[in-house]
Amino acid sequence: MSGAADEPILQTGHLLGIDALSVPEIESLLTLAERYVALNRAPEKKQNVLRGRTLINLFFESSTRTQSSFELAGKRLGADVLNMAVKNSSVSKGETLIDTATTLNAMRPDILVVRHQDSGAAELLSRKVDCCVVNAGDGAHEHPTQALLDALTIKRRRGSFEGLLVAICGDIAHSRVARSNIHLLSKMGARVRLIAPRTLLPADADRLGVEISTDMRKGLEGVDIVMMLRLQLERMGGAFIPSAREYFHFYGLDREKLNCAKPGALVMHPGPMNRGVEIDSDIADDVEVSLIREQVEMGLAIRMAVLDALARGLPREGRNAA
Ligand code: CP
Repeated sequence: MSGAADEPILQTGHLLGIDALSVPEIESLLTLAERYVALNRAPEKKQNVLRGRTLINLFFESSTRTQSSFELAGKRLGADVLNMAVKNSSVSKGETLIDTATTLNAMRPDILVVRHQDSGAAELLSRKVDCCVVNAGDGAHEHPTQALLDALTIKRRRGSFEGLLVAICGDIAHSRVARSNIHLLSKMGARVRLIAPRTLLPADADRLGVEISTDMRKGLEGVDIVMMLRLQLERMGGAFIPSAREYFHFYGLDREKLNCAKPGALVMHPGPMNRGVEIDSDIADDVEVSLIREQVEMGLAIRMAVLDALARGLPREGRNAA
């Protein structure tokens, strides 16, 4: 299908964040992912792009979508896939992130997919190991494959990003998804508007080159895509909202607030959702407006494209041969 001999796509040999990607790199990944959408819808889903390669998933934070789709992506492309059970590993005996990663690196994997609670963890590991590193979410910093799958979902529905107005709503301050999406959507020519209470806007919001609103109804005016975010309680050190009930009243997306957006506006959410907190089930389950299930499907295709792109940069003899 893709052929590992094709042109390299990711120039650094890693995927650490959207900030470092060029527009041609993003476009190439989206184009490649389209081929994997088609493959995943076909009866025969196996490819040999990663045959003989080893992929390790190293998740220090819980995950449903990202970990399972990287596992399935690796398997569909023919790799041997190891999911490290971090909770049962020697991390519980005090082994550090770097020692854990260098230990796994000694087993000569080709690609390490890492999720960690600290911003910069994936970049740090990329300097300590000699395989490709993919950032599957580092603290509140970046979640590049989420932004890429969101972009693929939008592109398939709207054709292009130029002139689109995308609202990112909710807990932006603690969200790596928001940060990666701001980078990607801005690079691709979309307008981005952040909608949140002041307490949930990042301290550097004014320097991000985006529009800002603290009023959900006014903020949604003219919006093409409404991207909702979960309250990331695991990254909150104190009380940022008076109560979940009050938060839903002012910022939760229900039919009445969605009617403030452009007619035909579409709704996205990276998951996991907290129904009745940031989004009403009436909207989340409405297939006419909700792209949430489609985002999950695009997630698998994007992760296959990312693994394929990284494999193109691996030496034929094996990157770790010594
Ligand atoms: N959107 C996302 O990263 O979901 P998971 O935490 O389930 O991987």
